[in-house]
Amino acid sequence: MSTAEKLPAPRRTEGGDFGRRAYLRVSSHNGGMNGPGFTPTQLAARAAYLLRGNDLGTMTTAAPKLYPHMWSWDAAFVAVGLAPLSVERAVMELDTLLSAQWRNGMIPHIVFANGVDGYFPGPARWECRRLAADAPAGPDTSGITQPPVHAIAVQRILDHSRRHGRSTRATAAEFLDRRWPDLMRWHRWLANARDTKHNGRITLYHGWESGMDNSPRWDRAYENVVPGDLPAYERADIQLVDPTERPSDREYDRYLWLVEQMRRCGYDDFQLASTMSFAVEDVFVTAIFALANEVLAGIGEDCRMPRADVRELYEWADYFRAGVIATTDPRTGAARDYDVRLGRWITTETLAMFAPLLCGGLPRDGERSLLRLFEGPRFCGHPDLRYALPPSTSPVSKDFRSREYWRGPVWPVMSWLFSWVFARRGWAERSFMLRAEGLRQASDGSFAEYYEPFTGEPLGSMQQSWTAASVLDWLG
Ligand code: SER
Repeated sequence: MSTAEKLPAPRRTEGGDFGRRAYLRVSSHNGGMNGPGFTPTQLAARAAYLLRGNDLGTMTTAAPKLYPHMWSWDAAFVAVGLAPLSVERAVMELDTLLSAQWRNGMIPHIVFANGVDGYFPGPARWECRRLAADAPAGPDTSGITQPPVHAIAVQRILDHSRRHGRSTRATAAEFLDRRWPDLMRWHRWLANARDTKHNGRITLYHGWESGMDNSPRWDRAYENVVPGDLPAYERADIQLVDPTERPSDREYDRYLWLVEQMRRCGYDDFQLASTMSFAVEDVFVTAIFALANEVLAGIGEDCRMPRADVRELYEWADYFRAGVIATTDPRTGAARDYDVRLGRWITTETLAMFAPLLCGGLPRDGERSLLRLFEGPRFCGHPDLRYALPPSTSPVSKDFRSREYWRGPVWPVMSWLFSWVFARRGWAERSFMLRAEGLRQASDGSFAEYYEPFTGEPLGSMQQSWTAASVLDWLG
């Protein structure tokens, strides 16, 4: 049986070239399987089994070896994948994460599993509990944050709970009541502490905060980071994954130097703004934040949360959406990041260009041309791609590297994010196409962290939890 028969075959779409090309490709050969080509039922079973295997009890590790702890945005996507399996378990995942929330409202990018070694930098390097006044007393955490996708997970939990009986619905409702103030604190912290220039854009002080660690987006800003007296360290990641698929040692020195700078100012929000040698306004995170505010506001309205909170969330959604739109090129609709230290716009051909597709707000023509860019030969419609999915960096960019982390590979969780948002925005066929192609890519059953765009080779960590979660949501 060919893959085209096993997985939902994309139909012709409003996607123009993209839709036609992907359609032809799917129907004209066996779908470019990398491996045995699991059926959807087998794939869903394997994804569920994987999440079970990565489950430490109250947290799911982002990946079994490379990332043996809980990561903030991974945990949100994992909850999306857990929700169709067990609403209760999905709730527990977010509960664990929120239990590590800082006093100032920040959700830290890593919650360390107790007594688990094997990741660097671990708690001993961050030392948040000793150095940061705002760090929680309980679990060890890192001292930075990550993209605010959590409202999406809450939405999916509520969606799934509605298909169940009273007790599951009550679990979800009780979770929302209990955690609503924490979710508000989280969004308020981002809106206050990270909109440093009051222009509706979120500032980051470490590339890790973007989740796209070594994206070409940050290359120029990192040139400004000159490591000083850096305590010795040994990388754990390159013991586990081919170093050519990971950020370089030079990049790691800079990453660790930024941690050092943060330690020196006690991870204090106010001091970070003036002391960090890396400070960028991240347009992709800002768009996610605008979207998350809108999603959370909708939840708040549906579930009768305080009116003042709902109003504030809608105001943030509008304000940060405007912040994204202010960065765009009026002709192409593409968005840009901003380097706060250099006082310069950052124009790259990466996923960041498509930020406005996540949050909306572009004039009609701009949106149409940005969709053409997304689906055209510079991204999903590049003629040599194995699957019509968005690579992290455009294959035609001089910065493109097909195997290097965020410099080129396709990240399934990004395909999922765009497919979910496209469905929400009413672009059903576009969403369907990403889902169909995402499932073809995943049908090798490796659940890789990222994939080589031209060959479809799985790269980075295998058995990555959020890849399994994306597949489970697509198949749910
Ligand atoms: N993505 C980072 C890593 O590779 C952590 O946030 O370790």
